[in-house]
Amino acid sequence: MSVTKGIILAGGAGSRLYPLSKIASKQLMPIYDKPMIYYPLSTIMMAGIREVLIISTPHDLPRFEELLGDGAELGIKISYTVQEHPEGIAQAFILGRDFIDNQPVCLILGDNIFYGKYIFLNPIREFTSGALVYGYYVKDPERYGVVEFDAAGKAISLEEKPKQPKSHYAVPGLYVYDHQVCDLAEAMQPSARGELEITDLNRIYLEKNQLNVQKIGRGVAWLDTGTHQSLLEASHFIGTLEQRQGLKFGCIEEVAWRMNFIDDNQLDDVLQKMPNSPYRTYLADILAEEG
Ligand code: DAU
Repeated sequence: MSVTKGIILAGGAGSRLYPLSKIASKQLMPIYDKPMIYYPLSTIMMAGIREVLIISTPHDLPRFEELLGDGAELGIKISYTVQEHPEGIAQAFILGRDFIDNQPVCLILGDNIFYGKYIFLNPIREFTSGALVYGYYVKDPERYGVVEFDAAGKAISLEEKPKQPKSHYAVPGLYVYDHQVCDLAEAMQPSARGELEITDLNRIYLEKNQLNVQKIGRGVAWLDTGTHQSLLEASHFIGTLEQRQGLKFGCIEEVAWRMNFIDDNQLDDVLQKMPNSPYRTYLADILAEEG
């Protein structure tokens, strides 16, 4: 059974980015030459997902709609749901119940950027049941959900932002769940900070022996975008690669075209509507060269 549905959670206050957070939501901030949400959107599109639900605040949701529309230009379907208050990442599965419709679903946080060889997405394509999360080695695991493995490489514990992490493996904001997820999320209790914690949800699957944790190797960059400094570093990272190669990363129209969600004519229609810009020229060039 392949995963065809994906949720992008793009709410939250983003208050650490004040005063930038006064003018736009964090997930609309530029990362080099594109709004942040282009990167997680392209990641799940590359995993083969064509039905997308974007969840954000009542204030910001209209801006996402303005930016991405109904997805037709990308050969996908995008719908939108408000999260009134940031009551936890796992709330996405309560808000998204109708969208999920008892199917497997992928969740990506709107501020998570993955760069590298996309074979790490293969387990999403091969997903059958239970839950799938990733483990990514970091220097500062205490800032994240942390997964501990036994000597045989089996996940044995999960903790959210532990003071004394049991391993260096952070759990990135990319998850896949089977049809049980909505009921499990409904039954959860908020944590001490008043949130439905994604780590608590993952622990439920772990305890049921239904959690698959895949390690992502060092060939993939998982970038953080939570602070002004990490925002700048992510822009430098993407900018350096794009300048060197002349190829874009996170260009949603290109991804749609390479995934065969749209054909040459549709890509041409889309780029004709764009203002004259390096972005448009880039798409016109790849279409002329490879179309
Ligand atoms: O980035 C990966 C980490 O994301 C995981 O390792 C952690 O286990 C997970 O809890 C989460 O940690 P963060 O500290 O990054 O969570 P934060 O509250 O900052 O929320 C992550 C994104 O999700 C953020 O861009 C805002 C959005 N969000 C968050 C909450 C709690 C929402 O849209 N709604 C919410 O209710």
